[in-house]
Amino acid sequence: MEQTFTIAQTWELLDQARADGRSVGLVPTMGFLHAGHASLIERSAAENDITLTTIFVNPLQFAADEDLSDYPRDLERDLATCEAAGASIVLTPTVDEMYPVPIVTKVTVDELSESMEGAQRPTHFAGVATVVAKLFNIGGRCRAYFGEKDFQQLAIIRRMVIDLSFPVEVVGCPIVRETNGLAMSSRNTYLSPDEFVAAGVLNRSLRSAVKLAEGGETSADIIRTHIVEMIATETLVSVPDYVSIVDAATLAPLETLAGEVRIILAAQVGRPRLLDNIGVTLAS
Ligand code: PAJ
Repeated sequence: MEQTFTIAQTWELLDQARADGRSVGLVPTMGFLHAGHASLIERSAAENDITLTTIFVNPLQFAADEDLSDYPRDLERDLATCEAAGASIVLTPTVDEMYPVPIVTKVTVDELSESMEGAQRPTHFAGVATVVAKLFNIGGRCRAYFGEKDFQQLAIIRRMVIDLSFPVEVVGCPIVRETNGLAMSSRNTYLSPDEFVAAGVLNRSLRSAVKLAEGGETSADIIRTHIVEMIATETLVSVPDYVSIVDAATLAPLETLAGEVRIILAAQVGRPRLLDNIGVTLAS
């Protein structure tokens, strides 16, 4: 495994790999890697000759009052995780390398970016889409691996690739969870032991909602109320910021469940806001 620090160095290695006929997989991350990130790297390493992992805490996707300065970091452990998972190249650029001058060119993905996380964090997805566009220009023709954990982000990136013709095949990967069902996240490190246990209710409520839907309940209102009531039984978990029941491809809100449905929620547990989601397929 080779660590690179600059875009030019990374281009050179990838140009050489492609000239040798080798396929490239890309796994963008912000570091503080856990088994969820490792699963993306392992999948890429299984499906491509070369896997480029990037570790970059992207200032553009944090609002002024968010946790940029104390976002958790541990580069040495991350490099060991990348190596064990099968990465070939790890790009760890500085902010100056990625943004040598104040950036005035941005990518915005309308509509898909306005609801859910976008309503809570109005500049967030433009920051994500812009850095991912840069990472796609660094990675070149490749498969790129993203987790379903950030389901709205995945839908936005898929749409950006279509709209802007990036030579990238986006691969969505399943959510890796703790034994209590909590979706793994770098931000789980902020949870106290009690909060960690309580946060298990998020996934339990989603699984229970899927059972209701599979049992024939098609009203989004009834399913949403069921989830909110289950979460309310845990005093350490806040009232969810949103519980959205949407079409999995377009993220359009549904009143009646049909087809490929995604139930997506966010709730504050102690310090961090946690995200989770689940899919259910129903006859349309
Ligand atoms: P980060 O939060 O570090 O996540 C990097 C990738 O890992 C994302 O695709 C995310 O969905 C995936 N991931 C995180 N937790 C996961 C889990 N429990 N199971 C499966 N996959 C998981 O998402 C970002 O960074 C940034 O927004 C980024 C795309 C790198 C742009 O800066």
